[in-house]
Amino acid sequence: MGVSNKRVAVIGAGPSGLAQLRAFKSAADKGADIPEVVCFEKQSDWGGLWNYTWRTGLDEHGDPVHGSMYRYLWSNGPKECLEFADYTFEEHFGRPIGSYPPRAVLWDYIKGRVEKSGVRPWVRFNTPVRMVTWSDATKKFTVTAHDRGNDRTYSEEFDNVVVASGHFSTPNVPYFEGFETFQGRVLHSHDFRDATEFKGKNVLVVGRSYSAEDIGSQCYKYGAKSITVSYRSAPMAFTFPEGWEQKPLLTKVVGKTAHFKDGSTKEIDAIILCTGYLHHFPFLTDDLRLKTNNRMWPLDLYKGVVWEKNPALFYIGMQDQFYTFNMFDAQAWYARDVMLGRITLPSAAEMAADSAKWRAREETLADAEQMIWFQGDYTKELIEATDYPSFDIEETNKTFMEWEHHKMEDIMGFRDNAYRSLMTGTMAPKHHTRWMEAMDDSLESYLQAK
Ligand SMILES: Cc1cc2nc3c(=O)[nH]c(=O)nc-3n(C[C@H](O)[C@H](O)[C@H](O)COP(=O)(O)OP(=O)(O)OC[C@H]3O[C@@H](n4cnc5c(N)ncnc54)[C@H](O)[C@@H]3O)c2cc1C
Ligand SMILES: NC(=O)c1ccc[n+]([C@@H]2O[C@H](COP(=O)([O-])OP(=O)(O)OC[C@H]3O[C@@H](n4cnc5c(N)ncnc54)[C@H](OP(=O)(O)O)[C@@H]3O)[C@@H](O)[C@H]2O)c1
Repeated sequence: MGVSNKRVAVIGAGPSGLAQLRAFKSAADKGADIPEVVCFEKQSDWGGLWNYTWRTGLDEHGDPVHGSMYRYLWSNGPKECLEFADYTFEEHFGRPIGSYPPRAVLWDYIKGRVEKSGVRPWVRFNTPVRMVTWSDATKKFTVTAHDRGNDRTYSEEFDNVVVASGHFSTPNVPYFEGFETFQGRVLHSHDFRDATEFKGKNVLVVGRSYSAEDIGSQCYKYGAKSITVSYRSAPMAFTFPEGWEQKPLLTKVVGKTAHFKDGSTKEIDAIILCTGYLHHFPFLTDDLRLKTNNRMWPLDLYKGVVWEKNPALFYIGMQDQFYTFNMFDAQAWYARDVMLGRITLPSAAEMAADSAKWRAREETLADAEQMIWFQGDYTKELIEATDYPSFDIEETNKTFMEWEHHKMEDIMGFRDNAYRSLMTGTMAPKHHTRWMEAMDDSLESYLQAK
């Protein structure tokens, strides 16, 4: 493989950053001259959120803990919808496996592809990026990083920077009256680790999205006495089992009594704020920093990837996500081809007009199904622009639709279903144990033949 004299910095070695490494390696394997790629990763291993940590608050070096995942987390969508088009589950595990693997199984799969690619030497672990600046004079970025192992801060120059640092790690923490005197625990989902802590307790979950639904389900599964979900906009549409109830927004807490907007009250032992996350890039100057809430089409990113105000900068995985791993791949392949000069970008005005068109459509989206078709169309457009192996987006969307229907049918049982791989055509086997009865989430237990 040849190496051009350019240098690319990738910030983060989660699924998005690893997609970028894999994209470059794939081009190199096909004979292309690629730049030198340096990936800076704050944690001691790769996999991003999928690399579980028991820590909360600060990490071993005193930086904010990145991890938001918890024990007993199983995929919340079918694995068939996130499968890499260039590295299938069957290739990794040597046989078909169930459709909703627990976290450790997905982490193993993510690692398998990059281990096979041999890109680990490109990653500098335990090295958070502290600052990125751009020079109009040299047309280069200066990246300042902190090598935690040697406690040394240093700066290097790069032609391109790819921000792949994720956006589900800095909690959005609202305040409710009475929190300071509440006689129980208040935590954000970012700090939730183990549902058994809430066994026998009356749990109040604030929020009505994926974290609220899944953390409520975890607590229910592992023996909470009751689950109360407090929503701001609308209740969740699922039929929850006995022991669950939904209430409008919390107004205040007095002692151990939660008060809600409809005037009702409930005695509670713990409050889990499932109130989402902030896009947070403390290492970027204002001119380079994406400012958005969690949505399907953040502005200023051409094709969802290229920073329109400076197209030497790229962002991967910044959208709200139905599609995940294979969408990050589509984005990384696209960013790679811009960096390699295979794709020529239009003028700034044309890029902004294209983004505005996607934003206008985003604003018409009324429900999850429409969002899935939107993100499917977007992913398809990117895939068609590069040599990422193409796969059937329509069928992937249809699998998402089946998932949605299975959730509506049975929110505690949807993970007992199985789907066909869009990459290999193989039907997944049903998992050996129903999700409600599967208490052990280890890789060994999941892969056990029963
Ligand atoms: C609780 C939870 C459950 C989820 N479950 C699912 C699921 O079941 N299925 C699914 O498809 N998706 C799920 N997701 C969505 C998740 O966002 C993606 O699966 C995926 O992890 C996103 O990858 P990423 O690389 O963009 O970000 P991340 O996984 O967050 O990785 C970002 C990486 O960047 C590093 N980093 C951050 N800042 C710096 C810095 N300054 N310098 C150097 N490195 C830095 C971090 O250490 C991390 O390794 C879940 C998310 C959450 C929060
Ligand atoms: N594998 C899994 O099972 C699993 C589990 C958890 C999370 N995840 C993933 O994690 C990601 C993040 O999900 P998320 O649910 O944490 O965030 P999210 O989807 O961004 O949802 C944030 C929620 O917080 C609510 N909220 C925000 N501010 C509030 C306030 N001041 N008062 C009351 N409610 C407030 C919002 O309410 P409104 O909607 O009313 O505005 C919304 O329901 C998703 O990609 C999801 O797929 C996966």
